[in-house]
Order: sequence, then structure tokens, then C-alpha cells
Amino acid sequence: MSLVKEISKRRTFGIISHPDAGKTTLTEKLLLFGGAIQEAGAVKSNKIKKGATSDFMEIERQRGISVATSVLAFNYKDKKINILDTPGHKDFAEDTFRTLTAVDSVIVVIDVAKGVEEQTEKLVQVCRMRNIPMIVFINKLDREGKDAFDLLDEVEQKLGLQVTPLSFPIGMGYDFKGIYNIWEKNINLFSGDSKKNIEETIAFDNIEDPELDGIIGANAADSLRENLELVHGVYPGFDRDAYLKGELQPVFFGSALNNFGVRELLDCFIDIAPFPRPKQSEERLVKPDEETFSGFVFKIHANMDPKHRDRLAFIKIVSGTFERNTPYLHVRHNKKMKFSSPNAFFAEKKEIVDISYAGDIVGLHDTGNFKIGDTLTEGEILNFKGIPSFSPEHFRYINNADPMKAKQLMKGIDQLMDEGVAQLFTLELNGRKVIGTVGALQYEVIQYRLEHEYGAKCTYENFPVHKACWVEPENPKSEEFAEFKRVKQKFLATDKQGQLVFLADSAFSIQMTQQKYPSVKLHFSSEY
Ligand code: G4P
Repeated sequence: MSLVKEISKRRTFGIISHPDAGKTTLTEKLLLFGGAIQEAGAVKSNKIKKGATSDFMEIERQRGISVATSVLAFNYKDKKINILDTPGHKDFAEDTFRTLTAVDSVIVVIDVAKGVEEQTEKLVQVCRMRNIPMIVFINKLDREGKDAFDLLDEVEQKLGLQVTPLSFPIGMGYDFKGIYNIWEKNINLFSGDSKKNIEETIAFDNIEDPELDGIIGANAADSLRENLELVHGVYPGFDRDAYLKGELQPVFFGSALNNFGVRELLDCFIDIAPFPRPKQSEERLVKPDEETFSGFVFKIHANMDPKHRDRLAFIKIVSGTFERNTPYLHVRHNKKMKFSSPNAFFAEKKEIVDISYAGDIVGLHDTGNFKIGDTLTEGEILNFKGIPSFSPEHFRYINNADPMKAKQLMKGIDQLMDEGVAQLFTLELNGRKVIGTVGALQYEVIQYRLEHEYGAKCTYENFPVHKACWVEPENPKSEEFAEFKRVKQKFLATDKQGQLVFLADSAFSIQMTQQKYPSVKLHFSSEY
């Protein structure tokens, strides 16, 4: 089959939400529709319920064995759908940010009662920065929640989106009668029977039809008519171009747990969601239908079994096809590599494949050659953009607790950083190592993994840093920059890429530095 045809079948996306909004449940229902799984409960939650390390270890252990939740793929109506897992827990936000570099669109799940929550805000902001097309799914309509219009307002205000409802609820919670599908112009009545896989819908091209009163009751019918009038009056009509540009976000209502409104979401999704999009590299824009292969590493998964220390590097194919046993150029190492057993993902399983297409994800066994952001090509020098590091929230010195194992410790730190578990900064003044993380949980994870996978022991020491700022001097040879470096010497470090970073101890200090050294730009992410 032609490359173009294969690419146009692919829909690679991520589901983002605040923990507990229903991401896992929705994922599972989508897989049920694709026939990829037979029963509910097959998709393992990646949730860290109590924020406990033991929970995390257990999850990682399970993942290491099955890689179950990293990529879930299934076919639906001749489309190949790839769902990329995005951890909801805030301590793993970096992981999610990176995964968002590999998706072509996202679905945002919001709890009807809780509305827009913190983690949703952060993740949507990242999607907005990258103009990723988004569809919003308002979940748990079987429960009492916020008024639909209030919620749409909240989504617009807090998330900075421009929404257009493509479905609208009839009642809510105890009075929840069903959903009017504006996209398909039909009504789906809620029965509360989660075992029903496909609900029956009643077509209603014209909601003025008196038959509607008979079906949902005169009061509900009147209020639905009023609501829809308001929807048409207040919100712009759906415009696919605007959606694809990230300027307009369609909204669906439903209940994932009851498998209600999910089919509508999926049907609309495969119609409107983008197939693999071109990606900007430092050198040029790379289009998916180019004949030659290119791709980049967005995630590295460690095998938690100490007997098999290999890792799985996840590659998003940006252009062309990836073929088994074919030499590809590892651009950073300037070295050709061949892969005899690339993994593709299907449902909760992985299997070896001969050929994968742009939009797909392949998992490559890795013994330490890859780090996040690495590019593979057929020979061209390309470096894909858009995998920045953001300032961590926590900073600690890392010390070696077993002098006999210094080498193991360094190797462990090096590899864990390549995986993107945390960020390493080396102080300019004395070469001391500082680990920066998004959540405090990671320190325990690192300590545990260093000990169990590398046989090294470490301790931490607090290092009070407010934010890491990446430094960009207008003129590296200027007096001003030299003075900045001299005065701030104690707070300067290099990141793993060798970029200069200012570890500011307070917001005030950032402000003062900016005033005093206007030609030295401070950035809050490593890509500027
Ligand atoms: P997450 O991945 O976004 O963190 O959320 P998850 O799907 O695990 O859902 C969180 C909780 O919300 C689960 O209950 C789930 O059953 C429930 N839920 C999801 N969708 C709906 C819905 O449409 N209606 C209602 N009423 N509940 C919904 P839990 O008790 O935390 O977990 P479990 O023990 O039932 O698995």
C-alpha cells in the first residue's frame, strides 16, 4: 500500500487530564470499541494513589515487564489508532510533556463535578504553546456536576480555549437523560447499562419535532431546545481548519464508566483528528510522506529487572517507513545502527514488526545508546526540535555514599538522566552534582534504582534553588557577561547538554539579575 495511504490512516494522540478525571476508564472504553480488548479492567491504571514510592515501584515493575501502558494501538473503522500514555501524576509531568512532542492531537478529559483542575491547566498550556489540536471530553455526566454552560465558560477562561460543543447533555446526575449529538444530529438516551457496547441513537434532524417531547418529556425537550439555541448563539460553529490550527476546541459530554458518549467521541475523532503532521527540525520542516525515514526518541523505558538491563527507546516515526534490519543513522553519535527486533504495539501487547509508518511508534532495545531527543534518519543530519527541559521544582546535591562504587554511581546517574527521570546540573565552581526534579518522589526513585540497578548508593543534601534559568548572552564576549559570570559564579552550572544555567535562589534574584545584566537573557526552558 502506498505510504500516503498508510499515513492517512494513522491517528496518534494522547489523553490528558488531572488524576481521577477518568483517563484510564476512557482509554479502556476506546480499546473496547476497537475490539483490542474484550473486557473492562484490562488496562492497568498508572495511577499513584497515595503518592507512595512503593506504588511507583510496583507500577514501574509491571510496566518494565509488559510495557503495557506506554502505547496502546488498535484499529477502528480502517483507521490505525495509537494512544500514547501520559502519566497524570504531577511528579511525572516531564514525562508527559515529552510524550506530547510525539502526539498529533490530544483529548482532554474533565470531571463534570470538579471542572478544570491544576494538572489539566498545566498540560493544556503545553498543548496550546505547540498548537496541538484538542478535543475536550466532559466526563461523569451520570453524577451531579456543574452546569454545562458554566463549565464551558470555565474551560474557556482557565484553559484559554475557544470551545464549540459538538454534543450537549440532557439533564445531569440523577436526571441525566442522555445526550444530543450536535455533530451527528441525533439523541442518545442514557440507560445506565455499562455493559451495552453500542447504544442506540434516535435521529433528530429537527429538534422542534414534537416527537422529542414524547421521548424525553416536555420539560426536558423545552430546555434542550433553549440550550441548543444558546449554544448556536454563543459559540462559533465547528470549523475543522480552526481545530487543526489549535484555535478551536470541540467539546463532547459523556460518561466513560457507562460507556456513554464514547462512541460519538471516537467517531468524530477519527473524522476530524489530524493524521501525522509535519515536524520542524533545526535544519528544515520534515513531512510525513517523504520517502526517507526519520524519527526521534521521546521516551526511554528502563527494564526494572536487574538481570535484563536493556531499555526500550520509543521512537516516533516522523517521515517515511522504519524497516527491520535496515541501517539507520544515529545522528548524535554519527553512527549507523541496525535493529533486528523493533517492537510495535497493539492493544496491551508488543510484537516484532518488519515495517512501521510515519505516525507509528516503534520500541527499540537499547543498551545505553539513546537519550531523549535523539534523532534517527537514513543518513541526513536532522535534529528535531521541541523537546525542551523546563526548570525543575526541587534541587538537591547528590553525594556518593559508597566510595568503592563511584563509577557505578556516575554511570547510573548518567543513564537515569538520559531516560529523563530528572535533570543533572554540574556546578561551575566546584563540579558538584545537583539533581533537579519535578516532584520529591523522584529522589526516592533515583536512590532506589541506583541501588537496585547499578549497585550504587547515594545521599542527598538540600540545595535551595528557586528556579533554573537557561542563560543566553547577547554577546558571549561582552564585559557585562563576564561580570555576570564572575558575580554569579556560585549559582552557575551546566546542564547535561553543556548549556549554561543560572540556579537562582529567589524570584527576586532573577528580577535583579535581569535588571542588572539586561544583555544576558534568562529563559525558563532549555529551548529558546
Ligand atoms: P484517571 O485515569 O484519570 O486517574 O481516572 P480513572 O479512569 O482511574 O477514573 C477515576 C475514578 O473515576 C474511578 O473510580 C472510575 O471508576 C471513576 N469514573 C470514571 N469515569 C466515570 C464516569 O463516567 N462516571 C462515574 N460515576 N465515575 C467514573 P475509582 O473508584 O477511583 O476507581 P475504581 O476503583 O472504580 O477503579
